[in-house]
Amino acid sequence: MSALLDLKAVSLTYPRQLTPALSDISLSLAPGEKLAIIGESGSGKSTLARAVANLLPRGTRTRGTISWPALDRPAKPGVDYGMVFQDPGSNLNPVLRIGEQIGEAAQHHLGLSRKEADALALDLLTKVQIPQPEAALRAYPHQFSGGQRQRIAIAAAISANPRLLIADEATSALDTLVQAEIVRLIQSLVKSENMALLFITHDIALAAQLADRIAVMHQGQLVEIAAAEDLLSAPASTYAQHLLDTYIDLADAPRISGGQP
Ligand SMILES: Nc1ncnc2c1ncn2[C@@H]1O[C@H](COP(=O)(O)OP(=O)(O)O)[C@@H](O)[C@H]1O
Ligand SMILES: [Mg+2]
Repeated sequence: MSALLDLKAVSLTYPRQLTPALSDISLSLAPGEKLAIIGESGSGKSTLARAVANLLPRGTRTRGTISWPALDRPAKPGVDYGMVFQDPGSNLNPVLRIGEQIGEAAQHHLGLSRKEADALALDLLTKVQIPQPEAALRAYPHQFSGGQRQRIAIAAAISANPRLLIADEATSALDTLVQAEIVRLIQSLVKSENMALLFITHDIALAAQLADRIAVMHQGQLVEIAAAEDLLSAPASTYAQHLLDTYIDLADAPRISGGQP
């Protein structure tokens, strides 16, 4: 089976920068595979996502290749991959009604009529569990909570049935409870829609919960990529071990302080 996505020795330097934001990244993603990318802030996770989604600023210098072996043509945004970002605001257009923004992508990519696009938008809003989906179609983004806006953004991202969902810190701005709900939603959609997932997070526990494999980034390099359970039980790199130790310390902290006399 050919890989869905394949990166070979990808290095990249942003315009007017001297140090590369990505150095020599090679990895591949099988159709339907769930890969998490973890690493601290500034390690290059979003840059990797933007490189895959072809969203780099003009003038970025890139080496290496990003290809889509399972496709017989260049990847198209929306159709082959959909993206959801951290900030619920940046995912949606504030002046467009929800129905239009979800329907718009599908109209554009699948050549649906307005009526068909409306029906699809309604179906998607139901799928992402927005209450009163019919009323929601005619509402604007500000009428929804942050968590609901992320649900709507996910609906828009998957409206044209992409093979890959890229979620860049898509749950990081949400409180823990809502975060858990959105993670469950992503989990169930990836399964029901048969999508691959590139889940970018600084949260190692979320990564382990969602992903088949975890890639660890540090200063623009891929320091380790392994099956989620292997990475958690026996990380090969000292950096992944360090991330894991930090995480375990944090998870333990309340109990330790609570145990003080
Ligand atoms: N548009 C840009 N121009 C120049 N440098 C950038 C730009 N975007 C990100 N960077 C730099 O690239 C590096 C990786 O950033 P990023 O991919 O956003 O990391 P992460 O998502 O892991 O926090 C950082 O040093 C960051 O400052
Ligand atoms: Mg980022």
